[in-house]
Order: sequence, then C-alpha cells, then structure tokens
Amino acid sequence: MNKVLLIGGTGLVGSRIIQLLDKKFEFIAPSHEQLDVLNPELVLQAVENIKPSSVLYAAGFTNVDLAEGKEQECFALNSKAPGYFVEATKKAKIPFYYLSTDYVFDGEKSDAPYTEDDLPNPLDQVYAKSKYEGEQVVLGASPINSVLRIIVPFSAVFTKKLDLARLFVSKLKNNEKISGIYNQKINPVFVDDLVAALGKILEARASGIYHIAATDFTTPYGYAKTVARVFGFDEGLIEKVDYEDYVKTRRAKRPQDTWLDTHKFRKEFGEGILHTVEEEIEAFKSQFIPK
Ligand SMILES: NC(=O)c1ccc[n+]([C@@H]2O[C@H](COP(=O)([O-])OP(=O)(O)OC[C@H]3O[C@@H](n4cnc5c(N)ncnc54)[C@H](OP(=O)(O)O)[C@@H]3O)[C@@H](O)[C@H]2O)c1
Repeated sequence: MNKVLLIGGTGLVGSRIIQLLDKKFEFIAPSHEQLDVLNPELVLQAVENIKPSSVLYAAGFTNVDLAEGKEQECFALNSKAPGYFVEATKKAKIPFYYLSTDYVFDGEKSDAPYTEDDLPNPLDQVYAKSKYEGEQVVLGASPINSVLRIIVPFSAVFTKKLDLARLFVSKLKNNEKISGIYNQKINPVFVDDLVAALGKILEARASGIYHIAATDFTTPYGYAKTVARVFGFDEGLIEKVDYEDYVKTRRAKRPQDTWLDTHKFRKEFGEGILHTVEEEIEAFKSQFIPK
C-alpha cells in the first residue's frame, strides 16, 4: 500500500485525512512525543526508517492572532520544520506535500479569485509570512513537491476547535446573535471535500501549487445566512459587519478578498470532488456532530 508519513494527524484536517483515506493509503502519523519535527536529525532518521512514498505536512501553528506574539514558534512549525523534511524527502527522492493558506495573498484582488499563477504578497502578519516562507522552502527544494492552499476549512466531526461554521451553529442554535462581514470574498472548504481532493493529488503524485476550496464564493455574512437556512435557524439573528470595522477588533491583520480559483484542480481531476458552498453546508449538516 502507498505509505504516507503524515505530520499533524491530530488536527482539524489531519485527523480527517486518516479517517477518510485509510483504505487507500497507509498513514504513519507520529505524535510530538514520537517525533520532534524541530530536530533535523530525527526528521531525517524518521524518513529513512519509515521509508514512506511521500510526506504530507498538515501540522502548523494555526492561531493567527496568537502568532503575533510568538513569531519564533510560528516560523519554526510553519517554515523551519518543513525545511528539515524537504531535505530528507529530497534525499529519499519522494514528494513533500505542504498544506498552505489563502493568507499568503494580500486580499486586494477583488475582481477575480486568486489563481495558482498569482504572486503571493502576505500582509505584515506573522502567520501569513511564515506560511509563505514555508511555501518557498518547499517549492524551492524540489520540483516534485507540492503546495496545497486551502481557505476557511470546516468540519462536521472535529469537535476540538470551533471553525467558523461550527461557531455559527453553536450560537444560532441558542438564538444568539452573530455577525458576518458582508464585503469580503471567501470560498470556505468542507474538510471532507478537501480530503477527497488530497487523496486524488497523492494518488497521482501531482506536483506544484493547487487551490482547494468551494467552487463558488460567498462572504462571511452569506456563509452565516446559508448555515442558518440549511439548519433551519432564524436568519434574522445575523448582522452585517464591515470588513474595516471587523479587522480593527483583531490583533493580526486580515486580508480582505482571498477567494481561491479552483479551476486548475477541477480541470486535472474532474468535477464532483469540490462543491458549491451550499452543497458543502448540506453535507456538513447531514454529518454534524455537536460538541
Ligand atoms: N484552520 C484554518 O483555518 C486553516 C486555513 C488555511 C490553511 N490552514 C492550514 O492547514 C493546515 C492544517 O490546519 P488545521 O486547522 O488542521 O490545524 P490544527 O487543527 O491547528 O492542527 C495542527 C496540527 O499541528 C500539530 N502540531 C502543533 N504543534 C506541533 C509541534 N510543535 N510539533 C508537531 N506537531 C505540532 C498539532 O498536533 P497536536 O494536536 O498534538 O497539538 C495538530 O496535529 C495548517 O498548515 C494550516 O496552516 C488552516
């Protein structure tokens, strides 16, 4: 079986990768205790001993606001550790897959979604800069490596942290008011679709950059309205908030329109793997496990 060394197998995305793809791939997913990813010797040894056919890096320092005070830790996990892995995977002549983010873009391209050919320009924000540095390290090390950019992932079954969709559901079900930005373009990705897409990419041993997201787009306000409509909650509980007013309340800067163009993935791997936001939320509801 295709053996994949998975780093970050306990996270929102990583845990679902194991749940949904374990029939097709054999995942070896060491915990922090089993493998210190910040030790280059141990990383090299792990790749040499496990002999995977690829490495998938779903770990990361993912709390954008917390990252502002923890630059060293954030860069360590998002860029330094991937750097150790790409040295090892290059030696072993196997591909390295790095999960990245829409935040590598500045969000100023509002007339069309970002394609894989658009040049990143992260805002002055620690997380965004660390992820862009990670991308460069990965793509610069070998042409068989890959960067998979995702945006606002949400899961029906991962209860350890509140993604945006779960946050909306948790408030709306108690008739609490919520607010959503009305002037920001996003295309959140349902984690099950993302994992299905990753499966195709791993199977094909595809390389380069791919954008994995919903096939249409919305705004955080529109996303909240769709969640409310699909779940049968009161849409009147949702208030509009202006992007400029919202960003003032956050520690880290936020790019405005970071919707991702998914045509490259769909052209190469076909339709029916990624879905519209509405279809994603229908699927999310059908599997939803409350906390
Ligand atoms: N969530 C988002 O909104 C979002 C958006 C765009 C892109 N992404 C990217 O997608 C990827 C996956 O995100 P996610 O939301 O699934 O992440 P997550 O839920 O925060 O999980 C992070 C993973 O990294 C592991 N980890 C943390 N510190 C570590 C360390 N020092 N050594 C080794 N492993 C460590 C965690 O292990 P423990 O559970 O043991 O701590 C966990 O498995 C990340 O690269 C992220 O940048 C996420």
